[in-house]
Amino acid sequence: MYGLVNQGVKDLVLNKFGEETWQSICDEAGLKSDRFLRMKSYPDDVTYSLVGAASKVLELSPEDILIAFGRHWVLFTAQGGYGDLFDMAGDNLFDFLHQLDELHTRVKLNFPELRTPSFRCTDVKASSLRLEYHSHRDGLSALVVGLLHGLSDRFQTPLDVTHEVKREDTGTHDIFFVSLTEPPGGAK
Ligand code: HEM
Repeated sequence: MYGLVNQGVKDLVLNKFGEETWQSICDEAGLKSDRFLRMKSYPDDVTYSLVGAASKVLELSPEDILIAFGRHWVLFTAQGGYGDLFDMAGDNLFDFLHQLDELHTRVKLNFPELRTPSFRCTDVKASSLRLEYHSHRDGLSALVVGLLHGLSDRFQTPLDVTHEVKREDTGTHDIFFVSLTEPPGGAK
């Protein structure tokens, strides 16, 4: 994945746990250098090893690491020069979720080797929808859960996420049931 992603993991660990923990994670992952060029595409193994090493060093499950990273990614990218892309993709959570593929299409203009995920909203109601997640990669469904929580923070829209259908079962995609825990518009 692009160095931007590895840089995001680094940013999360440095902010939450500090330099020493980050160095332990790099050692555990067997990284020769912890400097990532944001615009360079690295083998996916680098990212997966970082997540595995963080899980070991921090004694958290890989899923918990991915959830924390997903949540952090929203802040990291919005504050790291990609805020306009967020602004363009909608001013409420559900509109934004409909625009995820367009957002990554725009990202691809600057990151030509991007292997984009794809998302589809179905069963859309005022307070809930189902989000399909299609990916070239395995093992990242917990990342999507974290991303949804990060977007929930961004749009100040509390939500519940249930991982309803797993890719192991469909062979192609995951499905998340996303429901708002407060009525849209804040009305009680
Ligand atoms: C402006 C904000 C964003 C930027 C700049 C961005 C950029 C990227 C980049 C560089 C990758 C790595 C893919 C690769 O290197 O091939 C990626 C992957 C991914 N992005 Fe985004 N992204 C953004 C927002 C989001 C949001 C809000 C979501 C919410 C669902 C999301 C979901 C994902 C997922 C799930 C992946 C994993 C890749 C996979 O499944 O193959 N991204 N994104």
